[in-house]
Amino acid sequence: MKNYDIAIIGGGPGGYVAAIKAAQSGKKVCLIEKGELGGVCLNQGCIPTKTLLKSVEIVNAVRRCGEFGVSGVEASQAAIKMDKLQERKRAIIKKLTGGVGFLLQGNGVKVYRGNASFMNRDTLNVNGEEIKAANIIIATGSQPAELPVPIGAGEKGKQAPIITSTEALELTEIPKTMVIIGGGVIGIEFAYIFAQLGSKVTVVEMMEHILPMVDEEITDETAKMLKALGIEIITGAKVSRIAGPSVYFEHAGTEKTAQGAKILMAVGRVPHTEGLNLETLGLKMNGRAIAVDEHLRTSVQGIYAIGDVNGMSMLAHTASMEGMIAVENILGHAFRIDYNRIPWGIYLQPELASVGLTEKQAREKYGKIKVGRFPLAANGKAAIEGETRGMIKVIIEPRYNEILGVHIYGIHATDMISESVLAMNLEATAEEITTTVHPHPTVAEIIPEAFHAALGKAIHFL
Ligand code: NAI
Repeated sequence: MKNYDIAIIGGGPGGYVAAIKAAQSGKKVCLIEKGELGGVCLNQGCIPTKTLLKSVEIVNAVRRCGEFGVSGVEASQAAIKMDKLQERKRAIIKKLTGGVGFLLQGNGVKVYRGNASFMNRDTLNVNGEEIKAANIIIATGSQPAELPVPIGAGEKGKQAPIITSTEALELTEIPKTMVIIGGGVIGIEFAYIFAQLGSKVTVVEMMEHILPMVDEEITDETAKMLKALGIEIITGAKVSRIAGPSVYFEHAGTEKTAQGAKILMAVGRVPHTEGLNLETLGLKMNGRAIAVDEHLRTSVQGIYAIGDVNGMSMLAHTASMEGMIAVENILGHAFRIDYNRIPWGIYLQPELASVGLTEKQAREKYGKIKVGRFPLAANGKAAIEGETRGMIKVIIEPRYNEILGVHIYGIHATDMISESVLAMNLEATAEEITTTVHPHPTVAEIIPEAFHAALGKAIHFL
């Protein structure tokens, strides 16, 4: 039997970060991973999708090169070679997952390859080997949810061509048509990518808006951009069955249908707990997720759950932060996570990024609020970049002008949101942003401008 201070199950952005942090703190640490290091994020999620997007961005830039005074390029010939793109994607994944392995090794973390299952609260079985640890962190992630609707063959016995985001990332041929079920983050990122690669995309979304958790004003702008690319977006449409390539849904009281050479299922993700033998522990669950308190402790002493498996906020950066917090708590410190200040980004062109409350949520919670807006069209750097679509919207409470929410739809949004996250963490006021010097020319100048607008008037907009 091997003994460790901390054993971590799962090598995604939650688990591997926790392992590094724990080892750096002088603990004897092991990490058990049945697949590839880096988890969904590096292998089937964030990294590969953004690699595909980069190629889309380049091809679009090449097509516009005349506008920028670049000659000598056959702009109209610009196209993406899928095999080359997949090769680049694989190389990037290999480099990054290799980097994770290197970091774990360099920090003295023992990595076991295999399935871990609980024998009791401090002992795991990994490929028949017993591993004992005073503390165990479960970081096993999530998998695509399945839609509980009848799925069958269509005419002439044609099977339903259903794929998830995992298979969509492996496609080497672009389907002529694609129906995407679910207009959430995955659905919309893939709708954008495949429409740009040449598919005729239809998104079927149950709610009245795509990206239901995003500020409505921002999603309305985003939906306009997506429709301008030829993407058909059908909202208020609940999918009821799938037969071969046909997706049936209820829309405005009638049954309608959309056909796709591929049907991408993007109706959420569910925590991954199979095979862990959690039943032996009597661990408290929250639906399919492992229930945790604000310190990431489960109901069983010494066992923590971080990342998608606890269902709190299914984002890679949340998982990493939870990993570090769980380790701090194991070390005897009392760290907590504030889920109200977790930023997110949606990678389209232009990008979306946000932190805090939407306008609707802020009105419900605070009643009177102040809202400031600023269009990217009034920003110099955005004009230089040739990407002036989008806006920023900030929400402050009127008494102390404390920041409640920041929502950006525009170029570099995902890189710019961190300033607002830090500001909110420091409980900064709108005035503290407007009196902070922002370098010029940068797109980030839209941030103080929007706060100026919330307080009264923007400088560079009438
Ligand atoms: P999601 O929960 O964001 O969206 C699922 C959508 O499917 C919802 O809008 C829902 O209303 C819709 N839906 C459910 N049942 C339906 C039905 N019968 N008919 C039509 N529509 C239906 O889940 P998604 O997009 O699959 O993403 C899973 C997780 O991965 C999320 O937690 C997300 O935050 C995370 N993720 C984050 C990314 C990022 O931060 N950039 C990128 C990709 C995923």
